[in-house]
Amino acid sequence: MNNDLYAVVGHPISHSKSPRIHSLFALQTGQAVEYTAIQAPLEDFADTVREFFERGGKGLNVTVPFKEQAWQLAEVRTERAEKAGAVNTLYRDDQGRLTADNTDGCGLVRDLTRNHGIRLNGARVLVLGAGGAVRGVLGPILQQQPASVTIANRTVAKAEALAQLFAPVAPGVEINAVGFERPDQPYDVIINGTSASLQGDLPPLSPTVIGSETVIYDMMYSLQTTTFNQWALDNGAGRVFDGLGMLVEQAAESFRVWRGVQPETAPVIEELRND
Ligand code: ATR
Repeated sequence: MNNDLYAVVGHPISHSKSPRIHSLFALQTGQAVEYTAIQAPLEDFADTVREFFERGGKGLNVTVPFKEQAWQLAEVRTERAEKAGAVNTLYRDDQGRLTADNTDGCGLVRDLTRNHGIRLNGARVLVLGAGGAVRGVLGPILQQQPASVTIANRTVAKAEALAQLFAPVAPGVEINAVGFERPDQPYDVIINGTSASLQGDLPPLSPTVIGSETVIYDMMYSLQTTTFNQWALDNGAGRVFDGLGMLVEQAAESFRVWRGVQPETAPVIEELRND
């Protein structure tokens, strides 16, 4: 029997860990899945998707810079995809319609709550950034019913827009939008969703947001401690995590959506961490 074909599409794509993660899931669950990486031309994402499904492909993951385009292209969107404004998972539903889902927020919440045992429920959460990455995870964070979510961003208007967009989905949660200079009291959980560290940069935050119990989560990951997590450690943070677990968890959720089977993530996270 031929394997069912899946792929991740992005530009660039050679660094992607998704083929490795999904191959490990397939092996572990005995699913007949082949998973490759496709670099779509920057101007040709839609054709790349169409060709993939015409060739009999079953599902795609979508990464930078195509997540918003994938959202536009979809004929059907799940509820969590609709609000996220960007998607990382595509497949055809049983009527053949191109369907989009976003598993990033679910991946982040699972990594925090299940893998690291952090409670978001009732927590005071500070989210840094207000771009696509943050928009993609706010819904699932709010669903955990934190006490408050403060969105801090360099461009405050973008934080305000996200606060307005998400206020209706979380009636019991206090949502604030601020600049980086404003937060000055310790938070329970701080999530870095800015791309500042790509430039080796740091959001100009007061170190007083870090208390002895504060949990730090950088949605980025790298072999070394991320720039943000190093800053947090230097300023007294006790627990810091990077986004490797989120990466594996969002992949696991895509795998479940496509195959109806839930892979175990812990051994895969460990294997990637030891690379
Ligand atoms: P992504 O898909 O990674 O979220 P994005 O939509 O371009 O990409 O958003 C990038 C986020 O990182 C934004 O919140 C951006 O702040 P602005 O909205 O003010 O542009 C933030 N960011 C990028 N570089 C930054 C830097 N050097 N310092 C602080 N914030 C930065």
